[in-house]
Amino acid sequence: MSDNFDRFMEELQKKIFDETKAEFGDIAFQRWRKPRYVGRMDNADGYGRVTGSCGDTMEIFLKFERDKVREASFKTDGCGSSMVCGSFAAELAIGKTPDELSEITGDKILDILGVFPEEDRHCAFLAANTLQEALNNYMVNHMKAA
Ligand code: FES
Repeated sequence: MSDNFDRFMEELQKKIFDETKAEFGDIAFQRWRKPRYVGRMDNADGYGRVTGSCGDTMEIFLKFERDKVREASFKTDGCGSSMVCGSFAAELAIGKTPDELSEITGDKILDILGVFPEEDRHCAFLAANTLQEALNNYMVNHMKAA
């Protein structure tokens, strides 16, 4: 009985994973399974918080060193796709100067993902907009300090 139940659960999980991978692509699937750069950052030099048209909110935190991003992290209360896109936005930000950060767009995040469902593409733009907010916040703080 328990063996049958365990087997059923394993098969169900495999089916869900296979369907998710087919729909979202391997890169997003792997990141969804193991999200990176998740979490709030204390004393961030740049902070962005944006609520998208879907009603979900993303936050991005940046720490700079010698005018380049040394650390980046994000938080979202949104869907699995926002988790994946926030994670790639943070990853793309690391090591970048403000000028380079300003070039990170939703399309750049989608390029990395390759396959991504049409109805979830806006999650990449929410992540990119939040990153741009964090950059703006850094620039304002930076100018005040200068
Ligand atoms: Fe709202 Fe993905 S961020 S649906």
